[in-house]
Amino acid sequence: MNGYRIAVIPGDGIGGEVVPAGIEALEATAGRFGLRLEFTDFGFASAGYWQRHGTMLPADWEATLRGFDAIFFGAVGWPEVVPDHISLWGSLLQFRRTFDQYVNLRPCRLMPGVRGPLAGREPGDIDFLVVRENTEGEYSSVGGRIFEGTERETVLQETVMTRIGVDRVLKYAFEQAERRPGRHLTSATKSNGIAISMPYWDERFAAMSERFPDVRVDRFHIDALAAQFVLHPDWFDVVVASNLFGDILSDLGPACTGTLGIAPSANINPDRLHPSLFEPVHGSAPDIAGQGIANPIGQIWCGSMMLDHLGHPEAAAHLLGAIEDVLAYGPGGAPLTPDLHGTGTTVELGRAVAERVRER
Ligand code: NAD
Ligand code: IPM
Ligand code: MN
Repeated sequence: MNGYRIAVIPGDGIGGEVVPAGIEALEATAGRFGLRLEFTDFGFASAGYWQRHGTMLPADWEATLRGFDAIFFGAVGWPEVVPDHISLWGSLLQFRRTFDQYVNLRPCRLMPGVRGPLAGREPGDIDFLVVRENTEGEYSSVGGRIFEGTERETVLQETVMTRIGVDRVLKYAFEQAERRPGRHLTSATKSNGIAISMPYWDERFAAMSERFPDVRVDRFHIDALAAQFVLHPDWFDVVVASNLFGDILSDLGPACTGTLGIAPSANINPDRLHPSLFEPVHGSAPDIAGQGIANPIGQIWCGSMMLDHLGHPEAAAHLLGAIEDVLAYGPGGAPLTPDLHGTGTTVELGRAVAERVRER
């Protein structure tokens, strides 16, 4: 199969700036590899939609999106207009749950030509994959407030871990580790302090590791792991974590490799019963939105992950290679954006990648 229907949801802020750059690079790649990508744009899951309709999504959103092969997503959230927990639970978190995208894959790599904040690190030193549990855990709507307005006011929010939910993401992470040369899987928990859910995760991790004798395992408490990400990022290969810990590690990792702006993520339903969703790790970045200087590489790399998921690893590798080539030219030779110490714009950097796709 080489024709695909892609739902495009730019969302808010820089989402609307980086998504077109992602599409330009994808179209260039599709041209090289004889693929047909048909993009359909949706304006929902945005603050603008909320202002017009009072909801983040139309009633038929699920049926609408279900018909697509993949969802190419920018970022959602504009807290001046709609509180973040409402906009996110009303859109992105709905997509992840309804389409059972239980794995969130977040690669983290020090790219050639990119100056990271850690001294003495070269490309190759930092290259790990965060596998984040994406549909349960600390992100739960179980809980509430009682005795509101009194001095006994109490707020509860439960972490939910199911055996199926924990086992399936651990299995996926072991399979990823098994395929990589390092064959090393790290589990992030906090079983010393969070004494019910985290020891359960550890227990399931130990049980799953027996099925993967070729994978070397270790585990860290999340606090110590955060420190090791900075001190010894070269230690890590695949890191599996609960929803919240995976969220935090997948901002910290890219920060260690220079900028959040290049980090991609793939919200995957490995069983392929539902469409998967590809979005950069970053958000709508209100502080730079509208200036045309957002880094589009995270979004473009998402395009590469999407091609891989759709069954076109060569096209995916070609696009990632084009990203690497352009970054390797450095701020002197490529129109890198300010987060990469350049003076380029979103459009210029996106175009440079698309051109590189055509010429390499
Ligand atoms: P953010 O990721 O939007 O921004 C954090 C910092 O990184 C900012 O200084 C920003 O300028 C910078 N940055 C982010 N992306 C960049 C890029 N492509 N190029 C250059 N610099 C970039 O995080 P935040 O400020 O905590 O959140 C802003 C809004 O986005 C909130 O509404 C939040 O809920 C939402 N959000 C959405 C998603 C998502 O849709 N997946 C992810 C994270 C945050
Ligand atoms: C991410 C984001 C989301 C998350 C927010 C916006 C709900 O930070 O995709 O990493 O925490 O999952
Ligand atoms: Mn996040």
